[in-house]
Amino acid sequence: METAELLAGELLTNAYLYSDGPYTLRLRAMGSTRLRVGVWDSNPHIPAPFGADSPVAAPPSGAERGRGLFLVRAYAANWGGYPLGGTGLYGDAGGKLLWVEVRA
Ligand SMILES: Nc1ncnc2c1ncn2[C@@H]1O[C@H](COP(=O)(O)OP(=O)(O)O)[C@@H](O)[C@H]1O
Ligand SMILES: [Mg+2]
Repeated sequence: METAELLAGELLTNAYLYSDGPYTLRLRAMGSTRLRVGVWDSNPHIPAPFGADSPVAAPPSGAERGRGLFLVRAYAANWGGYPLGGTGLYGDAGGKLLWVEVRA
């Protein structure tokens, strides 16, 4: 559960930093063994590693950026992301959903 909190915090911080609209957090039990943490935001850009495969790389030592998605790669059991088509009308804003799964 601490892992879910850690990763949710990193994803929400990123949604706040890298989008200029609303964002949401959703938690979903995947059976009894995993918890899926999903964060939607209004920016359609999908950062690595959520889109295509990307190498596991540590951030340079002393780096103050790049920590959040490094932690995702290190601690999540699974992750993904997809764009959401939107009309721009209220409640259908497009953007993307990023999700991670952690062992419950
Ligand atoms: N929700 C997001 N939308 C768009 N770009 C993102 C998002 N989250 C992360 N990114 C991009 O991925 C990079 C790495 O994110 P992260 O590892 O959390 O490091 P940091 O937040 O310290 O820059 C960010 O600098 C940003 O360019
Ligand atoms: Mg971050």
